[in-house]
Amino acid sequence: MEWPEELINDAKKRMEPYNVEGFVLGKGNEEGDIMIVGEAPGENEAVKGVPFIGRAGDELDKQLSYVGLDREDVYITSVVRSRPYKWVETNKKGSGGKRKGNRKPNQKEIMAHAPLLDYQIQQMKPEVIIALGGVAYERLTGSKGKISEVLGKVIQTPVMKSSTSQGWEKTEESFTIIPLYHPAAVFYNPKIKEDIYESLDHFKNYLEKKEESRRA
Ligand code: URA
Repeated sequence: MEWPEELINDAKKRMEPYNVEGFVLGKGNEEGDIMIVGEAPGENEAVKGVPFIGRAGDELDKQLSYVGLDREDVYITSVVRSRPYKWVETNKKGSGGKRKGNRKPNQKEIMAHAPLLDYQIQQMKPEVIIALGGVAYERLTGSKGKISEVLGKVIQTPVMKSSTSQGWEKTEESFTIIPLYHPAAVFYNPKIKEDIYESLDHFKNYLEKKEESRRA
């Protein structure tokens, strides 16, 4: 994807006041029609500049393969491009008593990087956007509802984009969004496994129908 340098520089500048590290723009098939939007890079991703290469990435690959996709088929990006961290105490020797722990991005950080995702969506105009987790779902749809209530649903909706004058506004055009749990969610709550696979079945079904109508 061709990026206006100013767009990236401005986003990095707006993020300067916050505790974040690294910068990941996205990776994958930008000529394709499926965009996957995660939350923010984790530690490994922030170091390498590649999305979803840690443990959550392995889980994402597993889930993609379940629906018949692999990374070359999709474009992977996220709401925030730098890893938000907080200092946590540790007893580990040689660490100086603290280490960086992951945390969710806050609203200011989400807004600071919003023009990057706005730009990617406009450039790619994906046929379907997979919102991985509550942060991506709320960022894209503006909904404060629980992701568990919309899991695997095929939702037609304008998406939220940042506006210099009004904060957030809706796009004029409608997009197809399918919300799924963030792949890391199952590590914290193994009980949701059944719901995950049910939502993946919905996604698979959507893909099969899409393929059928492409062939017709
Ligand atoms: N979580 C995300 O949302 N993105 C990554 O790249 C890794 C973990």
